[in-house]
Amino acid sequence: MSDSTAFDLFANDYDSWFGDNRDLLESEVRLIAHAWPGKGEALSVGCGTGLFETILAREHGIHIQHGIEPAEGMAAIARDRGMTVNIGTAEAAELGEGTVDILMYNGSTSYVPDLQTAFAKAHRALRPGGHVVVVDVPRESGYGVLYCLADALGTWDHPVFKGVKPDAAYPMPFVKAATWHTTAERIAALEACGFEIVRTAQTLTRHPVNAPHGVETPRDGHDAGDYVAIVARRA
Ligand SMILES: C[S@@+](CC[C@H](N)C(=O)[O-])C[C@H]1O[C@@H](n2cnc3c(N)ncnc32)[C@H](O)[C@@H]1O
Repeated sequence: MSDSTAFDLFANDYDSWFGDNRDLLESEVRLIAHAWPGKGEALSVGCGTGLFETILAREHGIHIQHGIEPAEGMAAIARDRGMTVNIGTAEAAELGEGTVDILMYNGSTSYVPDLQTAFAKAHRALRPGGHVVVVDVPRESGYGVLYCLADALGTWDHPVFKGVKPDAAYPMPFVKAATWHTTAERIAALEACGFEIVRTAQTLTRHPVNAPHGVETPRDGHDAGDYVAIVARRA
């Protein structure tokens, strides 16, 4: 299964998983709002169903009207929500040169095996002084390790997960399709493409089994969070 096929086949399961994890969704939205680098034209790469973009506009005045998304099923839902979406991947989509101020990758870099190809494209697409906002699950985090273990075992239905996995665990097809990167790997790939790291911020700092219960306030750094935002600038 390719990195976006799972999202095409199970697009409806994606939003319903967040429906079962509303506090987690709110914590993640707050992280992006906390890290957001300012005004300017923004594009979401791997925008999925546009769920975050809708909430960011409604609750935080952050407007991301345009998206790139490889899975038609996800893109169709994002379009229903009012986004314009081009079908494509972070590595191959035509993003142009100096065309945009902010590029957001929310949860999508875990489905991009080759980060440097994607970030080199991002660097070229940004106007000078523009930013990337890369937000994702680090492989070294509680969720990251849990997902790697589930992938290795091929199931959530294993005794090792008793009392460990969250009630509504991330659907297995999305776990299996991912390439989980560490935050250090994401930062190294950004720096190799000429980006300057501006800041990092984090949320979901409790054990995954507890993370869906209670909304967290984000804080700076990336030493403890299971969801981390990296903000980097094109000099
Ligand atoms: C975890 S979802 C995140 C979706 C959305 N950004 C959100 O936060 O709700 C990952 C998304 O990345 C997309 N994706 C998969 N491979 C990709 C690639 N090579 N480039 C860009 N996006 C990709 C998937 O189709 C999916 O919509």
